Amino acid sequence: MGKNFTKSPRIVVLTGAGISAESGISTFRDQGGLWEKHDIMDVATPEGWRRNPSLVLEFYNQRRKQLDEVIPNPAHFALAKLQKHFQVDIITQNVDDLHERAGATNIMHLHGELRKVRSEKIPSLIYDTKHWEVKLGDTCERGHQLRPHIVWFGEDVPFIPLAAQMVENADIIFVVGTSLNVYPAAGLLYHAQYNARKILIDPNEMQVENIFQLRHFKEKAGDALPRVVDELIAEFSA
Ligand code: OAD
Repeated sequence: MGKNFTKSPRIVVLTGAGISAESGISTFRDQGGLWEKHDIMDVATPEGWRRNPSLVLEFYNQRRKQLDEVIPNPAHFALAKLQKHFQVDIITQNVDDLHERAGATNIMHLHGELRKVRSEKIPSLIYDTKHWEVKLGDTCERGHQLRPHIVWFGEDVPFIPLAAQMVENADIIFVVGTSLNVYPAAGLLYHAQYNARKILIDPNEMQVENIFQLRHFKEKAGDALPRVVDELIAEFSA
């Protein structure tokens, strides 16, 4: 299927919450997902932060704490394996660190990282958090309150131009475990070359229209991704 290659393909993988679901991290929009239990406006907007920073810190503290209780699943490991064979860039909407912990590299965190915090006043003052808990009164070197290093609704997604360029240059694009509801990330697939191979892995029906060379595996990432990765490696070592 898809384009014929004369050389090793460049691969870009866009991941979302679904790839971490089998590790035990809730997705956002599935039944019982995070946005059923928490109001986006309260915990994922600059307005929510201004209204009640303690509530916001606590929401991300709990999610950061959960990272110590979960481990990468076969889908994360499959991508690390893919990187041993091809040039692969991972663009993730996830704020967890499971790609890294599976041994993957070249990871762009479009929506930020749970294990980082930053000054609420100077966005470039970013720090690794050693501990899961960040409290009101924890400050940066300039004395500003620290906030989660997360892209909230209504904020810029600084890496989007670079991500779009990576997708444009890719021969094969994987889209794994994202409902493609949140822009601008959801629009990335439309930057792909028309004849690039697109591989969608998500157990649910997806609304993707006018995308040429798209194949949808309606399976869990932990089932489909290791198999599809092995098939790709076999195809190019044949
Ligand atoms: P969603 O919760 O919107 O979508 C998760 C997707 O994963 C759905 O399409 C599910 O069908 C699929 N899924 C569930 N289990 C799966 C499995 N085992 N294997 C593969 N797929 C599975 O999450 P995202 O699309 O990642 O942003 O959400 C995008 C952004 O919305 C997030 O980054 C977050 C959220 O608001 C911020 O917080 C800034």
